Amino acid sequence: MPRSCRFLVFLGVWWLPLMLAGAEEQQDKGCSRSASNCGNLNISDPFWLPDWNVGRSCGPSDFEVTCFGNAPVLQSSLGIGFKIIDISYGERSLRVVDGGKLDLFPGSERCRLPVWNTSVKLGHPFTIDPGSLSLILYNCTDGAAAAAWASATSRDRELVQTTMGCGDEMKVLASAGVPYDATGSYAGYALEGCDAIIVPVMGSSAGKANASYYKQLIDDGFRLTWEGPTLPAPA
Ligand SMILES: *[C@@H]1O[C@H](CO)[C@@H](O)[C@H](O)[C@H]1NC(C)=O
Ligand SMILES: *[C@@H]1O[C@H](CO)[C@@H](O)[C@H](O)[C@H]1NC(C)=O
Ligand SMILES: *[C@@H]1O[C@H](CO)[C@@H](O)[C@H](O)[C@H]1NC(C)=O
Ligand SMILES: *[C@@H]1O[C@H](CO)[C@@H](O)[C@H](O)[C@H]1NC(C)=O
Repeated sequence: MPRSCRFLVFLGVWWLPLMLAGAEEQQDKGCSRSASNCGNLNISDPFWLPDWNVGRSCGPSDFEVTCFGNAPVLQSSLGIGFKIIDISYGERSLRVVDGGKLDLFPGSERCRLPVWNTSVKLGHPFTIDPGSLSLILYNCTDGAAAAAWASATSRDRELVQTTMGCGDEMKVLASAGVPYDATGSYAGYALEGCDAIIVPVMGSSAGKANASYYKQLIDDGFRLTWEGPTLPAPA
């Protein structure tokens, strides 16, 4: 082996551990996996805040929280994420608002289509509190909205006309007080000519939700629980 070549091999071997050590150091630096605050919320493990200077992932993407001003937002791979209202680390639960639905209110400047069912925007570690109620938002054509309206009145089904939509192409009707159905079969609630979007809501302590207060229901959010880390199998 020529001398210069041997020197290069030597250099390579010498540098490798140094490079690895450098990478390891970077993993810890610039990651806020230890407790840090956003607004008045304590964001700590399993949640984590990215460090924009580093521009790297510091934990499971399902638990990534971005701090916008003083508002913590749980990120979603589909559209706008979830505004976090509170977190209980002891109960492994948090209350969130589906941000994409807030943007359907008049005056919002960033409506993002398509509009998803809230459940599909959530990562798999999260479960919607089974005690939740559902707010059903129907996106109907004009004709379908009129027909649905007429039939709901005759069947005494509560249906409310909303001012929601992206621009004015959407005639949104809301229905609430339906128990939340994790299987997603809302068979009795389909309206012909309307697309349905299901948003979980908390409702009142009496287990009721009135669709007339659809904005308040969305603003109040709903509860989620998350799975804890899997315990190591006993040896
Ligand atoms: C945030 O919560 C973590 C975990 O419960 C705790 O260790 C830490 O002291 C808290 N930090 C603040 C600033 O409250
Ligand atoms: C409502 O439905 C129309 C027709 O399918 C669609 O163009 C529009 O984007 C929908 N609006 C929302 C907010 O989903
Ligand atoms: C939302 O969920 C309901 C009930 O499972 C379903 O009928 C509807 O098609 C879904 N909407 C979208 C946009 O996926
Ligand atoms: C919902 O609230 C509206 C407005 O306050 C009221 O007129 C309606 O009767 C309520 N519906 C139910 C089912 O309580």
